[in-house]
Amino acid sequence: MTHLVLVGMMGVGKSTVGRMVASELDRPLFDSDEMIESRTGRTVREIWSTDGEETFRALETETLLDALGESEESVIAAAGGVVLSQRNREALQGADAHVVWLLADVDVLLDRVRNGMHRPLLDNDPEGTLRRMLVDREPLYQEVADAIVSVDHRSPHDVAKAVLRCCA
Ligand code: S3P
Repeated sequence: MTHLVLVGMMGVGKSTVGRMVASELDRPLFDSDEMIESRTGRTVREIWSTDGEETFRALETETLLDALGESEESVIAAAGGVVLSQRNREALQGADAHVVWLLADVDVLLDRVRNGMHRPLLDNDPEGTLRRMLVDREPLYQEVADAIVSVDHRSPHDVAKAVLRCCA
């Protein structure tokens, strides 16, 4: 029983690729931001602005652990920030899961994060923020990844195929 988990920066395409991979493998998809929104009945942005980042991060951990604990083999699109917590990283490393890091250049990310209201961290200076985040987070994604797939110059469909190939 091995879950397939997609990690990576905001805008890299985890949800889109996750949907394609889940459909191809005929598995359920757990998308951590969507899980948080459906459990709380509030948007990520609302939680962030009324309760703050710490509350959001606690929900993120709860949903990640629940998804990893599912008895059915699943595809999990984990929100970009899951790797920030050591507890989450340990859970990813300790779970029966194949973790794929989707990697992209900042220019590609910047172009894609324009659509999406659930990223309050990018409200100001998205380019500078993404660049700083990449420096901070790359070693953390690296720490949990079993495989790395670059999304640069690839359609989501091609990325999904590459993910499936590396997990076959
Ligand atoms: C975040 C990523 C977002 C969302 C929140 C924080 C992050 O999810 O959870 O805005 O810290 O990287 P996506 O990775 O799905 O964009």
